[in-house]
This record gives sequence, structure tokens and C-alpha cells, in this order.
Amino acid sequence: MADELLAVPASRLPRHVGIIMDGNGRWARSRGLPREKGHERGADAVRTVVRAARRIGLSALTLFAFSSQNWDRPPEEVFHLMALLRRYLHEEREEILDNGIRLVSVGQTDRLPAYVRAPLEDLKAASAGNDDMILCLALSYGGRETITEAARAVARACLDGRLSPETITPEVFEGHMAPSRLLPPLDLLIRTSGEHRISNFFLWELAYAELHFTETMWPDFGREDLVAALLDYSQRERRFGRTSEQVAALDGRAGTKRKDAP
Ligand code: FPP
Repeated sequence: MADELLAVPASRLPRHVGIIMDGNGRWARSRGLPREKGHERGADAVRTVVRAARRIGLSALTLFAFSSQNWDRPPEEVFHLMALLRRYLHEEREEILDNGIRLVSVGQTDRLPAYVRAPLEDLKAASAGNDDMILCLALSYGGRETITEAARAVARACLDGRLSPETITPEVFEGHMAPSRLLPPLDLLIRTSGEHRISNFFLWELAYAELHFTETMWPDFGREDLVAALLDYSQRERRFGRTSEQVAALDGRAGTKRKDAP
């Protein structure tokens, strides 16, 4: 295998990459195909990118596969996406398990039909001992919904006397958010298809993430596009509110140019 995949030094790699996989419908329309074909080719791109991410050595990859708002799409399209997810979970099971990948999910998965939820829960449990890479599927996921859910949990803790409002810090609040439990901080967000929006993805986690936008439609997104995004990221200076000079001093002390936390 050509090792363009190893073009970015490990010390400059993001640990956690999130992807808004956009453009399946436009990819299909521009070829005179039904939207469903775009999603099918999108699922192929998922396979390619997961494989590449694992080979590159990312710690975690989150794919925004179905948003809370996607339930409002035409029922046939929702059904097709659910069927694709089910197929993906069955077809990729062995490869995920054999490659040290741990599957997790974020979002209101109780809203998913049983024929998706069952293989999802099964593969999450079967892969729970893997620790080479986390593959997180954002399913029926919304950033606002997640933050609202955390606010509800914090409010409940205050009412029960387990927490007092004065002790709520960003860290305490984040501790009540489901995604934070397993995933490292989000370092890089990639959005395909030339759109420059967040679309209710990881609203909280994006606070200090780097953003990479590409014109490539998701079904065409491949290894080279992933490497290009990682190279772009590797050249960013992450300051987390500090000055360049402070960052340089901290980097010198840590012996690395990369910092993950403020
Ligand atoms: C956005 O494209 C894409 C989605 C809403 C679904 C993403 C789903 C997949 C990539 C396939 C299944 C996923 C897995 C994990 C197997 P769009 O339809 O909004 O495109 P458009 O903006 O061009 O219409």
C-alpha cells in the first residue's frame, strides 16, 4: 500500500476527527441518479475512510451518519438510510472486530428501528474490548439535543442534592454529556460538499476544534482527501486562547508541537 497515508507525522495528527458527510444527494443528482444511489456510494466512502483512519493511526473517528433532523426527510429516504446502516453493521462486523476498532455511538439511538439498534448494540458490545481506534457513529444525533439532555441531567443532580449550582463548571457540565465519556477531545472537523455549516453537529465539542471544508462530495471522498485534511490540520497552530509565544514556550517544554488542552 502506498504510504501517502503516513504523510503526516504521528506527533502532528489529530486524535479525534469528526466528519459531516455531505453531498450524497447532489452527487447522485449530477449523474442523473436517485438520491439513494448517492447514499450507497456514501456508505462505500465510509468503508474506505474508516480503513484509512485506522491505518493512519487516529484514536477516534466520528461520522455524522444521521441527524435528529434527518427524521424529517421523506420516509422512503429514511428507510433507505436505515437499511444501509443495517447492512453496514452486518458487512463490516468482522473487519471492525479484527482490526481492533471499538464501535460506539452518540445520539438518541432508542429512536432507531430495532433492525438497526440490535446489530448496533451487538457490535458495540462485541467490540468493547478493542482499543486501537474508536469509531463513533452519530445516529439520530443533534448537538442541541445533547446539550439539552446534559442540562436536564445537571438539573436533576441539583434537585437531588448531588450537585450545587455554584459548583457547575464547564468540566462538570461536560461530565454530564454522553459523548465525553469515551471520546478524546475533538481536534478536527471535516465537512464535505462545499457547505460551510455545522448543522447541529458537535456544538459543544467544536469550541476549539480546527475546521476543514472541502468541495469534494462525500461519495467521492477518499484516502487522498483524508490525508489532505490531516496535512492541513498538521500546519495549524492551536492556541486555545493563548499567544503564539506562549504556545511555542509550552511546545518547547513538552518536546512536541502539538497541544490537546488549554
Ligand atoms: C448528507 O448528504 C448525508 C446524509 C444525510 C447521510 C449520510 C449517510 C451515509 C454516508 C451513508 C450511510 C452511513 C453509514 C455509516 C454506513 P445529503 O443527502 O444531505 O446530500 P445533499 O446535501 O447533496 O442532498
